[in-house]
Amino acid sequence: MDMRVRRIILSALLAGVAIGQDAITASGTNFTLTGSGVSYLFHVDPESGDLVSDHFGGPATDFTPPASILPWGWHDNLANYRREFPDIGRSDFRLPAIHIEHADGDTVSAFVYQSHEVVPGKPSLPGLPATYGGDADVTTLVVQLYDNVSDVSAALSYSIFPQYNAIARSFSITNNGSDDIVIQRAASFSTDFPNLDLDMIEVQGDWSHEFNRVKRKVDYGETTFRSTEGYASHLHNPFFALVSPTTTESTGEAWGFNLVWTGSFEATAERFSNGYVRVLLGLNPLHTSLRVQPGEAFQSPEAVAVYSSEGVGGMSRSFHDLYRNHLSRSNYTHQTRPVLLNSWEGLGFDINQTALVDLAGEAEELGIQLFVNDDGWFGVEYPRNNDTLGLGDWTPNPAKFPDGLGPYVAQVNNYTVLNSSSQPLQFGIWVEPEMVNPNSTLYHEHPDWVLRAGKYARTLTRNQLVLNVGLPEVQDFIINTVSRILDSANIQYVKWDNNRGMHELSHPSDDYNYMLGLYRVIDNLTTRYPDVLWEGCASGGGRFDAGLLHYWPQHWTSDNTDASNRLTIQLGTSLVYPPSAMGCHISAIPNGLTNRNISIEYRGHVAMMCGSFGLELNPAELSAEEASAIPSIMAEAKRVNPMVISGDFYRLALPDNSNWPAAQFVSNDTSQGVVFAFQQLYMVKPAAPPLRLQGLDPQARYYNDLDNSTYSGATYMNAGINIAWERGDYQSKLIWLEKQ
Ligand SMILES: *[C@@H]1O[C@H](CO)[C@@H](O)[C@H](O)[C@H]1NC(C)=O
Ligand SMILES: *[C@@H]1O[C@H](CO)[C@@H](O)[C@H](O)[C@H]1NC(C)=O
Ligand SMILES: *[C@@H]1O[C@H](CO)[C@@H](O)[C@H](O)[C@H]1NC(C)=O
Ligand SMILES: *[C@@H]1O[C@H](CO)[C@@H](O)[C@H](O)[C@H]1NC(C)=O
Ligand SMILES: *[C@@H]1O[C@H](CO)[C@@H](O)[C@H](O)[C@H]1NC(C)=O
Ligand SMILES: *[C@@H]1O[C@H](CO)[C@@H](O)[C@H](O)[C@H]1NC(C)=O
Ligand SMILES: *[C@@H]1O[C@H](CO)[C@@H](O)[C@H](O)[C@H]1NC(C)=O
Ligand SMILES: *[C@@H]1O[C@H](CO)[C@@H](O)[C@H](O)[C@H]1NC(C)=O
Ligand SMILES: *[C@@H]1O[C@H](CO)[C@@H](O)[C@H](O)[C@H]1NC(C)=O
Ligand SMILES: *[C@@H]1O[C@H](CO)[C@@H](O)[C@H](O)[C@H]1NC(C)=O
Ligand SMILES: *[C@@H]1O[C@H](CO)[C@@H](O)[C@H](O)[C@H]1NC(C)=O
Ligand SMILES: *[C@@H]1O[C@H](CO)[C@@H](O)[C@H](O)[C@H]1NC(C)=O
Repeated sequence: MDMRVRRIILSALLAGVAIGQDAITASGTNFTLTGSGVSYLFHVDPESGDLVSDHFGGPATDFTPPASILPWGWHDNLANYRREFPDIGRSDFRLPAIHIEHADGDTVSAFVYQSHEVVPGKPSLPGLPATYGGDADVTTLVVQLYDNVSDVSAALSYSIFPQYNAIARSFSITNNGSDDIVIQRAASFSTDFPNLDLDMIEVQGDWSHEFNRVKRKVDYGETTFRSTEGYASHLHNPFFALVSPTTTESTGEAWGFNLVWTGSFEATAERFSNGYVRVLLGLNPLHTSLRVQPGEAFQSPEAVAVYSSEGVGGMSRSFHDLYRNHLSRSNYTHQTRPVLLNSWEGLGFDINQTALVDLAGEAEELGIQLFVNDDGWFGVEYPRNNDTLGLGDWTPNPAKFPDGLGPYVAQVNNYTVLNSSSQPLQFGIWVEPEMVNPNSTLYHEHPDWVLRAGKYARTLTRNQLVLNVGLPEVQDFIINTVSRILDSANIQYVKWDNNRGMHELSHPSDDYNYMLGLYRVIDNLTTRYPDVLWEGCASGGGRFDAGLLHYWPQHWTSDNTDASNRLTIQLGTSLVYPPSAMGCHISAIPNGLTNRNISIEYRGHVAMMCGSFGLELNPAELSAEEASAIPSIMAEAKRVNPMVISGDFYRLALPDNSNWPAAQFVSNDTSQGVVFAFQQLYMVKPAAPPLRLQGLDPQARYYNDLDNSTYSGATYMNAGINIAWERGDYQSKLIWLEKQ
């Protein structure tokens, strides 16, 4: 049966019948989690009370005996068990999911099964971002474990979203004893695969080079990567997939893992001598060392795993659907986004009310719906005229804005969106509230608010320091400052930037506490201002993570706006995060970073593949050719946007291995499709391969506006269509398909 039809039938079932309760069964202490195309089985070992992994993959209904391994030698007992919540010591020599230092200094734990409970729905994680859902969407199993030597208990939580083949896991550790304990290592997701051939796909990168897909064999030892930057970072993302060596974009098994977390993390697949592969995804132990006092508890962040038998693309679509429906809680998640123009590329720091209102006027003529005032608008004693001063002083600069923000924003709102009879041009603003310049009033008043390590010098990056958002006074400062800005004018959008990593920490736990503080701040502000469209940014994609996407519906994808580089970055980002959550803009050529010249159509097509489309250029500097193309690009972008927001996304060909990369959105009822096809370099030979589409209804007939013909879905998907590429590099096509 077609996957989509299955999905629709299943949604109907879920809506009509409360099959949610059947998503988790416990036969004694044999636990089975069942989704539409996934089973996750584990049980309690009757002798040791340890939790044993049985199966995570396609549907399976029975518990079968484990692989037989010669039960002697150095590596016996737990070393040969597939474990759900592994500790260290006690015969398991692999990396642990939990590592606790006790008051007397030892680090052994022995968690033993106590009880379990199955509850409809999903309890929220206090203070942490997490997936959520109603009783018909998700069912949760909580398993209680206890270590009677150290008097420490653990509660493991497994929530299954059957419709998405997704399982969310987290755990808490409660100190029931009378001495402090210190959590040294905490992996939110841990399970052991049997001896299967597996490759790991992850995304590596750097600033302006985010989300490059890399694949390597999961060999003996640890295949691992991490962030030690305090944030998710550009170098890696808290995501990886395990795939069979034969898995493709559209076929084969793929398991995806993603941490719902914005701080440092560590991801590992460890193959042991018996071939078993342990998966661990959680906090980076270098930034953990969390002290838990008697009677207190530690809550791990949540990790999400999805399984797909429909290749890497199927895995991505599970993440996209889960995150759009059960992670993001913004009003805007399911809404089309306004086309925006950002002042940065046009004016940089050289701004004032007159210049900005003039720029907004030019934006109006292009059909822009949202005008965004970037950096440079604040600072009184230390005017933000460049990046050496002013961060932290969030008061409009009186020389630039003599009457403050209110009257200025009213002037922007006074423009009317082109072709709309009365829609005012909306206004948005840039902030970077977690940061401070030493050249600021804030720093002089509160030098103790910055992250620092005792007497060591604090290292500056981009002339700025990081505020310790773990401190309640810093949290209140940010809440009050941002609220004051939002109350001072009619502001409908906020770009929340963050432009450096954390260097010196006074203690490894500063990062975890910072994140709890940041989530408190953002939770407060998004609750208070639900109608503001919030966009995250961290020198591009440095914090493009599921933690922030819980609160904010979109994130700036990369500071690299070269459309060819961007295509790679955006397709990499889509491995786990929905295109609807990406911010993408057309910028001027030659590109400021790469000096490359790419046509306005190609730049437009790449940018409109994202939920938030916009321009980041000075309209006055557009060439005549560009200016004449803009109206049709704006109209296309507006037409495409609903598909990007709610459609299913298919990567048809990747720039890494094709000169003709392509991607496609299909509406969730398969009635419509839109294809974005690209030619990187013009080639005399060979011919471009046929463009084979995906996700259509094979029986239905679809009209396309490429050759104005009607073919069956089966023809598009199996035979494909051919594009008559013109000569020249960086060509693009946008093709609409309409079911007849
Ligand atoms: C749990 O599964 C095991 C097989 O691994 C089986 O022997 C046992 O009877 C099952 N227990 C229950 C209560 O279903
Ligand atoms: C602790 O638990 C283990 C395993 O269940 C048990 O064998 C032992 O007797 C218990 N020790 C105490 C002091 O309760
Ligand atoms: C540990 O403390 C928690 C919180 O007070 C309590 O719910 C739990 O029952 C305790 N566990 C044990 C084994 O005493
Ligand atoms: C946004 O959500 C809030 C509640 O979270 C609601 O009160 C408000 O009406 C919503 N706004 C829009 C435009 O949907
Ligand atoms: C505003 O900025 C523009 C561009 O830099 C400049 O020409 C103009 O003099 C400025 N106006 C005021 C009032 O500062
Ligand atoms: C505005 O309307 C004109 C005339 O109908 C049309 O040519 C143009 O594409 C429209 N522009 C936008 C941005 O919708
Ligand atoms: C930054 O701006 C300040 C204040 O206008 C000015 O004194 C300083 O020279 C500028 N620094 C740089 C590096 O441009
Ligand atoms: C808005 O435009 C009208 C008409 O041009 C003008 O009378 C009014 O003063 C403007 N309001 C603001 C706040 O700029
Ligand atoms: C403070 O600002 C001045 C003027 O722009 C600059 O020269 C100096 O480097 C800044 N100091 C720091 C610590 O950034
Ligand atoms: C937000 O924080 C402020 C200041 O700490 C507090 O007064 C307010 O109640 C909080 N609001 C929400 C919605 O959490
Ligand atoms: C399909 O998309 C439409 C918006 O285009 C949305 O209203 C509807 O809820 C979606 N249906 C499903 C099953 O996701
Ligand atoms: C398809 O139809 C459109 C609109 O009628 C027209 O502009 C275009 O040239 C046609 N293309 C082909 C290949 O016939």
